[in-house]
Amino acid sequence: MTVKSSFRVLDGDRKTRDLVSAFLTYKGYETVILDDNADLFDTDRTTSPRILVADLVSLFARSGDALQQIWQTDPEQVAIVYAQSDAARTLPHDERLIFLPKPLNLDELESVVMRALEYQALKVRMPEQPVDEYPHFLCSTIIGRSRQMLNLFEMIEKVAESSATVLIQGESGTGKELAARAIHQLSSRSSKNFVPVNCAAIPDDLLESELFGHVKGSFTGAYANRIGRFEMADKGTLFLDEIGDMKATLQVKLLRVLQAKEFEPVGSTRSQKVDVRIIAASNKNLDEQVATRDFREDLYYRLSVIPITIPPLRDRREDIPLLINHFQGQFNRDRRRLVKGFTREALEMLCNYDWPGNVRELENLVERMITMKESGFITVDDLPEKYLAPRTVVAPPLSVSGSVPVGKELPPEGICLNSAVDAFENGLIMQALHRTGGNKKEAAALLNLKRTTLIEKLKKKNLQFP
Ligand SMILES: Nc1ncnc2c1ncn2[C@@H]1O[C@H](COP(=O)(O)OP(=O)(O)OP(=O)(O)O)[C@@H](O)[C@H]1O
Ligand SMILES: [Mg+2]
Repeated sequence: MTVKSSFRVLDGDRKTRDLVSAFLTYKGYETVILDDNADLFDTDRTTSPRILVADLVSLFARSGDALQQIWQTDPEQVAIVYAQSDAARTLPHDERLIFLPKPLNLDELESVVMRALEYQALKVRMPEQPVDEYPHFLCSTIIGRSRQMLNLFEMIEKVAESSATVLIQGESGTGKELAARAIHQLSSRSSKNFVPVNCAAIPDDLLESELFGHVKGSFTGAYANRIGRFEMADKGTLFLDEIGDMKATLQVKLLRVLQAKEFEPVGSTRSQKVDVRIIAASNKNLDEQVATRDFREDLYYRLSVIPITIPPLRDRREDIPLLINHFQGQFNRDRRRLVKGFTREALEMLCNYDWPGNVRELENLVERMITMKESGFITVDDLPEKYLAPRTVVAPPLSVSGSVPVGKELPPEGICLNSAVDAFENGLIMQALHRTGGNKKEAAALLNLKRTTLIEKLKKKNLQFP
């Protein structure tokens, strides 16, 4: 029997199945519960959207190959699959699959449903795009398809398996907290707490008690015993944000806790054991802080067992259209707007902008544009002035020798030559594509390259012309 429905729910556990179905129906989606006899692999492709929401065990009870079979008959179908978080690793890596850890949280379910709808809509709009060029996301929250982001996803998945301490570095707004949450969510600790502490936001003299707790009377204002964030994060993950701002005396104490895996609350002499996974983050360059002795070298090495760096948005411009599309969908829904998108010219401006505030800045801009515009397309005239400024890295004039690019000043703090060269090259390629309206042959001619060389470069760099 062909099921004519937007959402199909499969779960052998009646209670969960009814809950999921009731929730989707309540949200206004046409929903069908798949019973034992229903055909999982036959859907009516004229209906839209087509989304399967399934419990992993029940799905695999039908067939170990169930997802592949579904996609054979309906390549656009999106599957939201839920299970214990350690099961995520057994699932294929596919953009049409969204994993949701158990126990089910309805807020999370709603946000992945939105993501699935958005994904399918995008796919319908751009049917000619091969599947592997569709948006990628991890944990249904982190979006990106640049080579750097795909590497990051892989790294996060690997790191999640262990309990090793992770240090995430990157400019402000690049997604450090998002990455930390994804590591927790994919780890075996996901059913326990993820406890964030912003070391820069808590006054120095209170941070110790915030982290380790205190006993009654240990300082003025300590009217009762209080447990600290370490204890709250027991068996879970403690996220020490802006660690570069922690004062020296506390750095020593933290080092001791990391080594001994025990701590004493302020005013107490009794040690407490904890099993906490630490993820630290900083938007300051900790290497430099170690060099200037603002950060302890021994603590730095303890924290950076696994170092992760999230690149700034300007070094992965191919993620910009994808993120714009994502936030556009989100704010259209949140603000009840009907904005269709950005005109090609406006999108081009945004792809050329350098985004010093990274993804956060982009998110804020899209929110502002959608709120103000209400419907139709956002054009260049709608964009604030600063987004119209020419890019800082522009095609420089050739020097007398005809080959050495000039025009980019070496910043006082130095530069990472490889990524600067990479960004420079990406910028020129994208400019050539923009100028030729995406015509690769003409773009290659502008760059004095063979067409095939340009195509190879685009593939290798995972660059896409929006
Ligand atoms: N790859 C991404 N996909 C979707 N949203 C993202 C991505 N990266 C960042 N964001 C969004 O951008 C905002 C900033 O992200 P986040 O708070 O994780 O950055 P951060 O690096 O911790 O910033 P800061 O250093 O300023 O604390 C958040 O709203 C987050 O949801
Ligand atoms: Mg942060």
